[in-house]
Amino acid sequence: MPSKIITIVGITGNQGASVADAFLNEPGWQIRGITRDTSKQSSKAWSDKGVEMVAADLDNVASLEAVFKDSAVIFGVTDFWQHIYNPANQKKAQELGKTVNVIASEAEIQHGKNIVDAAQATASTLDMLVLSVVPDSKKWSHGKITWNYHFEGKWKIVEYLEKEYPELYRKTSTFHAAFYIPNLDSMMVPRKTPDGSYIISYPLDGDKQIPMYHPRNDSGPLVKALVKSTPGQNLMGYGSLISFNEVAEIWSRNLGQPVKYKRSTVEDMDQMIPGGIGRELGEMMEYISSPGYFGGEEAVKELNLIEPKELGDIPLTEVREYLKGKTV
Ligand SMILES: NC(=O)c1ccc[n+]([C@@H]2O[C@H](COP(=O)([O-])OP(=O)(O)OC[C@H]3O[C@@H](n4cnc5c(N)ncnc54)[C@H](OP(=O)(O)O)[C@@H]3O)[C@@H](O)[C@H]2O)c1
Repeated sequence: MPSKIITIVGITGNQGASVADAFLNEPGWQIRGITRDTSKQSSKAWSDKGVEMVAADLDNVASLEAVFKDSAVIFGVTDFWQHIYNPANQKKAQELGKTVNVIASEAEIQHGKNIVDAAQATASTLDMLVLSVVPDSKKWSHGKITWNYHFEGKWKIVEYLEKEYPELYRKTSTFHAAFYIPNLDSMMVPRKTPDGSYIISYPLDGDKQIPMYHPRNDSGPLVKALVKSTPGQNLMGYGSLISFNEVAEIWSRNLGQPVKYKRSTVEDMDQMIPGGIGRELGEMMEYISSPGYFGGEEAVKELNLIEPKELGDIPLTEVREYLKGKTV
């Protein structure tokens, strides 16, 4: 029997690479990876492993249609942050009198719609579309969180899919990527204050248990479990829960000196990283504090979000294990 093809958007990035790892030695499967540049090292690394690497661009539906052809499964992910950091979008925002966050969100949603439109072209032979998204933060905060565009936009892709292509929607499962664990030992490490003590400070409730996972290690096992299940599942992609007060305690032990966690405000974050990015991150943290990363109990119930254990015994990164012994 010929192998089934899984076509992976974002194979040179965190989530897509992990999905590729999970299917690399899986009997009966063949991987096709998408990149804008097949000559770069991160693409060649996959070709060297026998993956069929193909050039395509999320801005170009025709290129996606060509690559998606004959796929049994498509994994789709969109990247909000590249649009925020794109200098052309800063300029565009000024010209159009919009914030760069809105421009980035529109661009991310368009990429998602392009994935969906192209998947529709191959829908008759497709078994499953898996989209990496998160619930809409504006909806589940009941309008309180209005500047968390990277959480608000992703669900609009699913709404578009459901409205435009009901049959393809029925073949779709959603993967809700949790808070990335490597944030904790990169941009969120304890900072040394002028008096020499260490602090971690964000607009996050220090006691809130936050779902976390390792995108490079855990996306693959989670998405593979979705692919092996029936379509129509909405999976919370996380391996463990931890609060920032607990994170500070772990750092205190690791560094051998006290690390304090202090809740700051969205305004503090906005001042620290001006131009819309600080506010985006700050409002995300307010939202994670309440109603919660996956939108709180109401969203979990309404969207029928399932736990990883409902799909089997999936090996996932434990955040306390990950942080053990780390230094700054
Ligand atoms: N940080 C967190 O805690 C967190 C948590 C959950 C979800 N997320 C979300 O995760 C998403 C990013 O996922 P990631 O970490 O896997 O991304 P990543 O590591 O930054 O990689 C981005 C991938 O997207 C591909 N890509 C970007 N633009 C493309 C285009 N125009 N055409 C084709 N491919 C394109 C890139 O491929 P090439 O460059 O090779 O073309 C690359 O493989 C973001 O939207 C973010 O909001 C983040």
